Amino acid sequence: MNESIEDIEIQLLLDAVYRHYHYDFRHYARASIKRRLLQARQQWGYDSISEIQSAVLHDETILPQLLNFLTVQVSEMFRDPSYFRALREKVVPHLRTYPSLKVWVAGCSHGEELYSLAILFAEEGLAERTIFYATDINPAALRAAQAGVYPLDRIRLFTENHQLSGGHTSLSEHYTANYNRAVFDKSLRERTVFSDHSLVTDAAFGEMHLISCRNVLIYFDRELQDRVVGLFGESLARGGFLGIGSKESLRFSTHANLFSEFVREEKIYRRKLR
Ligand SMILES: C[S@@+](CC[C@H](N)C(=O)[O-])C[C@H]1O[C@@H](n2cnc3c(N)ncnc32)[C@H](O)[C@@H]1O
Repeated sequence: MNESIEDIEIQLLLDAVYRHYHYDFRHYARASIKRRLLQARQQWGYDSISEIQSAVLHDETILPQLLNFLTVQVSEMFRDPSYFRALREKVVPHLRTYPSLKVWVAGCSHGEELYSLAILFAEEGLAERTIFYATDINPAALRAAQAGVYPLDRIRLFTENHQLSGGHTSLSEHYTANYNRAVFDKSLRERTVFSDHSLVTDAAFGEMHLISCRNVLIYFDRELQDRVVGLFGESLARGGFLGIGSKESLRFSTHANLFSEFVREEKIYRRKLR
């Protein structure tokens, strides 16, 4: 009854994007989607959200730009260093007991989280036995992740974070500075499979030992978070680990009983053995 015209237009736009392109934003947290669509409308100089709907349906080149508005690409290497320290000190000793490992970085954005884990695994002597799966729905982000090139002015923060995470190499050993860019070593991604995968619409990945999916659930509504937690439960080997973002929780999920808290303050969970 008191739904605003804008809210109706947003629903229609999200339905249209789903029906035509199969990108499903219908269960993303609505307030943040609304904010982002209003930004897009303003930047494109449209008078209404319906004009975005018309543009995206009639011109396929609009979709990638719309995806850049609808997905948030904020990330940094070793973001929240204490999370990586906990992985290193508490999770790695368990991972060492496996002859081969599968790690899924879900919602990998431009690859900062992937390269952080790849460096950590190299430092801990696990890289050779690990296959990483780095997935995202934004093709531009996946291309950037695959390239592993970052502006040099971000390296200072990455280096500080890396040290705080307990890194025992120098970050500079892992990239080459080239003009104003840092190009990360190919060796860090040679055992990585990059793929387009949506946590909303795609199926589980099998038998992962670690899933790191940080700062993605926060953009979903409760119902969708629940689906994704179920997907992680299905994708993890028993005894496997799940790390989520500092503002995220499994507490409200109907699948929470699949997991036990492993490092509570770092939001690291473990798939129960039974
Ligand atoms: C804020 S970034 C998080 C980056 C990184 N995980 C971190 O914590 O630094 C959120 C990422 O989730 C991706 N994403 C959004 N919806 C997704 C979905 N349905 N399936 C997979 N990835 C999604 C976005 O494209 C974006 O790259």
